[in-house]
Amino acid sequence: MLVLGIESSCDDAAAAVLETDAPGKVRVRANVVANQDDVHRAYGGVVPELASRSHLITITPVIERALDSADLELSDIDGIAVTRGPGLVGSLLVGLMCAKGLAHRSGIAMVGVNHLEGHLLAPLLEHRIAMPYLALVVSGGHTALYAVREFGAYQRLGRTRDDAAGEAFDKVAKLMGLGYPGGRVIDRLSRKGNTNAVRLPVARVRGAPLDFSFSGIKTAVALVLKQHDGALVPADLAASFQERVVEMLIRPTLTAASQIGARTIALTGGVAANSRLRLKLEHAAASIGCGLVAPSFQYCTDNAAMIALAGSYRLLRGEKDPLDIDAEASLAL
Ligand code: KG4
Ligand code: ZN
Repeated sequence: MLVLGIESSCDDAAAAVLETDAPGKVRVRANVVANQDDVHRAYGGVVPELASRSHLITITPVIERALDSADLELSDIDGIAVTRGPGLVGSLLVGLMCAKGLAHRSGIAMVGVNHLEGHLLAPLLEHRIAMPYLALVVSGGHTALYAVREFGAYQRLGRTRDDAAGEAFDKVAKLMGLGYPGGRVIDRLSRKGNTNAVRLPVARVRGAPLDFSFSGIKTAVALVLKQHDGALVPADLAASFQERVVEMLIRPTLTAASQIGARTIALTGGVAANSRLRLKLEHAAASIGCGLVAPSFQYCTDNAAMIALAGSYRLLRGEKDPLDIDAEASLAL
C-alpha cells in the first residue's frame, strides 16, 4: 500500500509517501518539508496568520514534489493520511482541505491523524521497536510521556504543566538575543560553555513525579540576564540552562520507563535533536536496562512521513474517514 501523508499543523508544510504492507513495516519513498523559519524569524515565534497564508502557497507544490521524488502519480496512491489536530486551526485547515480535495477528486480513502500520534510512532520509521515502549515527546508545542502499547493504544503518563521544553529553548534564546528557532543555537553554543557556571532551578511538580515544568527556569534566566547586565558568558548561560532542562526531562522519563516495564525509550519531537539530551538520556536509560531510540533529525521535527505511518495501520484495515471531518486545534489523543 502507498500512503500519501500531509502535515500542516504549525509552521511546516510537509508531504511524504510511505510504502507499507503491514503495520510498522514501512519504507519512506519521499519526505518533503517546506519550513517557514524565514517568515517567523523577525517575530521570534510562529505568527499563526502568517503560517496559514504561507501554507496556502506551499502545500500543493510540496505534495507535487513528494510524488515526483517517489516517481509516482496521485493515481498510484492507495490512501491519504492528513493531520487534523492538535495545532493552529488556520494551518491545520490548509492541509486538511487539500487532502479532502485530492480524496474527493480521486476517490482515494482519507484518514485524519492526530499529530501527536505521528510523533509517538516516528521512531518506527527507521527502527523496529517491541511494544510497549515509552515515548518522550519533546517539541515546541508538547512535552509529554506516553506508553505506546500497540498501534492506536496510547496512555499519557506525564505532561508539562506550563511551557513545552522547545518553547523554553526558544524563549530563552530570544531573551539572550540568539535568534530563532532557538533550540539548535543553544545546543551549538552550549558545547563551548560550562554547565555549572550559572545557578538555575531544577523544577519538580509536587505529587506528580511524571510531570514537567519549564516556566520557572525561563523566568530565572530572565532574572540572571537582568542582574548580570552584560557580565555573563553567553555559552555558560546556554550550557547551564540546557543541562538543567535535560535533567528535568530525564528524571520523570526513567521513573515512567520503570513503571511500565519498557525495554525501550523512544525520544521524539524537535527537541529530540538536542545532542546533550540524546547523550545523557542514552546513558541514563542504559543504567535502568533500557535502550534509547531516537529518529534522525528529519523525523524528529514535524514531517509527513510520521503522519503517513500513523494513518497507515487504519488504512491497511480498510478504514476511512468521511470527507466532512473538521480540524481540531485541541484534538485529544
Ligand atoms: O517538533 P517540532 O519541529 O515542532 C513542534 O511540533 O513544535 O519542534 C520544534 C522545536 C523548537 O522549539 C526548536 O527550538 C526545538 O524543537 N529544537 C531543539 C533543537 N532543534 C530543534 N531544541 C533543542 N536542541 C536542538 N538541537
Ligand atoms: Zn510536532
